[in-house]
Amino acid sequence: MTDMARTARLLLAGDKGLLAMDESTGTCDKRFARAGILQTEEARRRYRELILTTPGLAECISGVILYDETIRQAQADGTPFLKIIEAAGILPGIKVDTGAKDLAGHAGEKITEGLDGLRERLHDYFAKGARFAKWRAVIALGDGLPTHACIDANAHALARYAALCQEAGLVAIVEPEVLMDGDHTLARCQQATERALRAVFEQLSAQNVALDGVILKPNMILPGLASPAQPTADEVADATVETLRRAVPVETAGIAFLSGGQSGERASARLNAMNAKFKAPSAAAPWPLGFSFARAIQQPALEIWAGKDSNRAEAQRALLHRAQCNSAARRGAYAPSMEVSGS
Ligand code: 13P
Repeated sequence: MTDMARTARLLLAGDKGLLAMDESTGTCDKRFARAGILQTEEARRRYRELILTTPGLAECISGVILYDETIRQAQADGTPFLKIIEAAGILPGIKVDTGAKDLAGHAGEKITEGLDGLRERLHDYFAKGARFAKWRAVIALGDGLPTHACIDANAHALARYAALCQEAGLVAIVEPEVLMDGDHTLARCQQATERALRAVFEQLSAQNVALDGVILKPNMILPGLASPAQPTADEVADATVETLRRAVPVETAGIAFLSGGQSGERASARLNAMNAKFKAPSAAAPWPLGFSFARAIQQPALEIWAGKDSNRAEAQRALLHRAQCNSAARRGAYAPSMEVSGS
């Protein structure tokens, strides 16, 4: 087994999962603004320090995904964040795409950029201590969308990124996100997700990417946020696992879902339903079904913190609570009664 395959296994082992804290400066500032927090580099550093020094985090979290700014930062006493992560027994990863830009000739669609100079950046991140990387493609649903052009261009970029990651010794987290924006049905999300996943795995194969060093970070199969339909957690679990089974090769190291704008409670309940019904090793789902959430773990903590040191401990408890709920969901042991603490 290669080091990469071992790392991928480690990230998905037991009932732990990934904490995505790799918001770009723009995205982080937008979330800070909504929570009434000053948008400065120091505020972002303090927030990331709050997350990384949460007591007990490593009991539920196997890896954290950092942003370029964060991987270079340190806590107030000067200890580099990477040292804190390492000391906790958590694996550091890094977002390496440079964002989704308008896809020329295709109104309403995006292509993720960042391939230029990526080989050098990946080697630099590996030398710093990163052991996995992430690249996010976004696919919008709408009238006539997604187009083949959007799906194919993003799948190709994801595969070029993954091949470069593996050359540098990094596990590739491959994230083709079908967005929740819109009023589309669950069935339309399912169709688009299956198309996108098939294209991604075709391109990964064309670029000679070893699938045991790849973690797929997909969306769950859900209706649009503006759709009146509210499926049960079991319906989401059935549709999601069925889609993965049709499109994801068994050799893939595992699945780590994004949360995509679902509430923390819903994300936990749906992940729980999948593991309660299909937990590996089962014929329906041969891969571990894990999580790599940002908002569904961080949001309550961010709102409680609100930029104030006096709220720090309570924010950390809220963060740990969501991480524990998702860890329980990996065992199929999450219950809404776990939410009584109010976070
Ligand atoms: P969410 O869980 O908030 O969707 O974020 C996951 C992520 O890493 C987005 O790229």
